[in-house]
Amino acid sequence: MVRNKKIKILCVVGARPNFIKISPLLQELKKYPKFKPILVHTGQHYDYEMSGSFFKELDIPKPDYNLDVGSGSHASQTAKIMIEFEKICLKEKPNLVIVVGDVNSTLAAALVAKKLFIPVAHVEAGLRSRDMKMPEEINRILTDHISDYLFTSCPEANKNLINEGISKKKIFFVGNIMIDTLKSQISKIKSQKYKPKIFKQLNLKPKKYALLTLHRPSNVDSKETLKNLLDTFKIISEKIPIIFPIHPRTLKQIKKFRLKISNKQLKIIPPLNYLETLHLMANSKLILTDSGGIQEETTVLKIPCLTLRKNTERPITVEIGTNTIVGQDRNKILEQVNKILFGKYKKGKIPKYWDGKTAERIGELLKQFLRR
Ligand code: UD1
Repeated sequence: MVRNKKIKILCVVGARPNFIKISPLLQELKKYPKFKPILVHTGQHYDYEMSGSFFKELDIPKPDYNLDVGSGSHASQTAKIMIEFEKICLKEKPNLVIVVGDVNSTLAAALVAKKLFIPVAHVEAGLRSRDMKMPEEINRILTDHISDYLFTSCPEANKNLINEGISKKKIFFVGNIMIDTLKSQISKIKSQKYKPKIFKQLNLKPKKYALLTLHRPSNVDSKETLKNLLDTFKIISEKIPIIFPIHPRTLKQIKKFRLKISNKQLKIIPPLNYLETLHLMANSKLILTDSGGIQEETTVLKIPCLTLRKNTERPITVEIGTNTIVGQDRNKILEQVNKILFGKYKKGKIPKYWDGKTAERIGELLKQFLRR
């Protein structure tokens, strides 16, 4: 029991989607005078476009610690995070470690904390693609099984956890934290004054372009798959221009495989910051993506989303949202693109608790747990 001392909460982030998830949570934790949040950035993502720009735009304070681990194989990245994060846990002796999402930083930090008997809370628990070839699926399962508090974004996640034998007492359906950030920023991008430079530079008109993001190893690490996808995008871009903010991993692979993208209608641009992405998403006719978060954001924005994967850990976006799983199958992709362009695509609804109040619900629960 912690009485007069502040309750120390180590919040861990590492990669781009983590920053979007931690921002509302840190703001919420600040509202509790008893809590002392300490921010740890593992340095998994380090380029300004992949990291710094998110801190700036989302008002995330400078991390108290930056582990600077950088890129590497899964083993070396995870191991480096563990070694450095253990030192911080031993020094700070936190009352709780919060991890978010499913990246290598999530699992590494959870594992360290648990072995030091520090309680772990996992935000975005219970999502399952049932595809063990995805590194994220391994991270999700392992993190969930060692976490003490599992905060979920949809009822299906609760079911997944219960089916895996995790006690109901640890599981809390709180909603989708990414949507907190989206809701808090949406008025900015809707204001007339906000027009990202890229919108002007590329002379984009609302609903007259498609947005593409692609970075999963399953799509970009094989030459044949990547080439087939790029050829498919070329066909689509003859119907509607495609804007392609490119992830560094994908750019590296295109260069390595010496693939040529000569089509002017497929516009490759550097990674965008959060507000630019949100603006481009909200104004696009359709989105092609292999991201997890974008499947959720498009559901809330009600923009058609075609997911270039064989499965999703976020089936609610397909069942009630605007998402369709199209894999890498050219015919399936083109069929859905045509539906969208001819106004025949489904309309979606917004899932329960994707309402901008998830951080608030988590804060309230943490107050109860940490009082015990
Ligand atoms: C990671 C996550 C993935 C998430 C994605 C979001 C894991 C296993 N994967 O994938 O779940 O969807 O982040 O973007 O944790 N690189 C840079 N600059 C950077 C970061 C990376 O150039 O700031 C390049 C490096 O060449 C690096 C490669 O991108 O080797 C991959 O980075 P890594 O963090 O290993 O995985 P992501 O593909 O970004």
